[in-house]
Amino acid sequence: MRAVVFAGSGKVRVDDVAEPTLVEPGDALVRVDLGSICGSDLHLLSGKTPGLKPGSVIGHEFLGRVTEVADGTSLTAGDRVVGSFLIACGSCDRCANGRFNFCLKRRALGTGELTGDLDGAQAEYVRVPVADVNLRRIDDSLSDERALFVGDILTTGIYGARLTGAGDGDVAVVVGAGPVGLFAALALRRIGTRVIVVDTNARRASWAAAVLGLEVVGGAEHPEEAIVNLTGGAKADVAIDAVGAIPALKAAMRCVREAGRVVVLGVYGAERLDLAMGRAWVSGLDLRFAGMANIQGHWADALDAVSAGEIDPTTLITHRLSLDDAEQGYELFASQEAIKVVLTP
Ligand SMILES: NC(=O)c1ccc[n+]([C@@H]2O[C@H](COP(=O)([O-])OP(=O)(O)OC[C@H]3O[C@@H](n4cnc5c(N)ncnc54)[C@H](O)[C@@H]3O)[C@@H](O)[C@H]2O)c1
Ligand SMILES: [Zn+2]
Ligand SMILES: [Zn+2]
Repeated sequence: MRAVVFAGSGKVRVDDVAEPTLVEPGDALVRVDLGSICGSDLHLLSGKTPGLKPGSVIGHEFLGRVTEVADGTSLTAGDRVVGSFLIACGSCDRCANGRFNFCLKRRALGTGELTGDLDGAQAEYVRVPVADVNLRRIDDSLSDERALFVGDILTTGIYGARLTGAGDGDVAVVVGAGPVGLFAALALRRIGTRVIVVDTNARRASWAAAVLGLEVVGGAEHPEEAIVNLTGGAKADVAIDAVGAIPALKAAMRCVREAGRVVVLGVYGAERLDLAMGRAWVSGLDLRFAGMANIQGHWADALDAVSAGEIDPTTLITHRLSLDDAEQGYELFASQEAIKVVLTP
């Protein structure tokens, strides 16, 4: 079958690889009808998140139909499903408490040895372990493009918004106008929070304003000055780092008022934060690390938001390519020309 494989330092290649087979009880094989490229894929390519072997199939945002199941799943061939990037066991204490992202046997699709060495979903077929937990049936009223992001970035945005604790009448700053930041912003707006999205890339900020009607600050390394002005000096109640880079996290920390909460939703690797402890202490900085998004804990809410028309995920799709053109898709996304690239096998 055709699949996107890691070709070493910063590169991908579309190649012929063996089709996956059932390995564990509870597995399902899914024929992928639509996939996409995530910001986390870029971290894997750059080596920021280590452990991916050259030749591994990558990708973790997908939707399709079940073709084959092992014993121990209630799914059947033909079921239309969206897959979670996060692979949880469904039976440990943490899964039992709905905290799937801290599952004691946590894995992730297509993200290398540190996360279970599972092949990814930018392919014609993918094997999904513990299918009952990690696939969700979707009904035919939702198109592929509307349902696709429920398995990662849309639900990640909803999860990040939820972690801020913000509600109606609060002010939130979202640092990063990539797909994750944009979905976090839409999720916050959905619950009545005023959102200001900031991005050092002025083009991405302008796109968010023009297409999504979001309030933005574009092109500033120090957005806090603009945030002070826009909030009449009050600053934001909460902020989200939807980038995964220290300058962005520091910007988020400077944009919140005293005792404001900063949610770290972007992914980190070996970076270190030099924190002025006295200032953090006296201002009651509330720094909350997200970890992997709790997809299974929030995907019902994400599907509700889409079904009700409260969030239209298709607006973020700027490029529709064939899986065979994935290399070009990665270039478009890495250069930030694309907001979101979807791939059809
Ligand atoms: N927690 C999770 O489970 C989870 C899930 C999915 C993605 N992520 C992470 O979320 C992050 C964002 O993903 P994405 O797909 O939106 O990526 P992306 O690369 O498309 O977007 C990142 C954006 O941040 C902007 N940016 C960079 N430095 C900045 C700065 N200092 N200030 C303001 N903006 C800055 C960039 O211009 C870009 O628009 C990544 O780190 C990704 O790995 C986390
Ligand atoms: Zn992802
Ligand atoms: Zn578990």
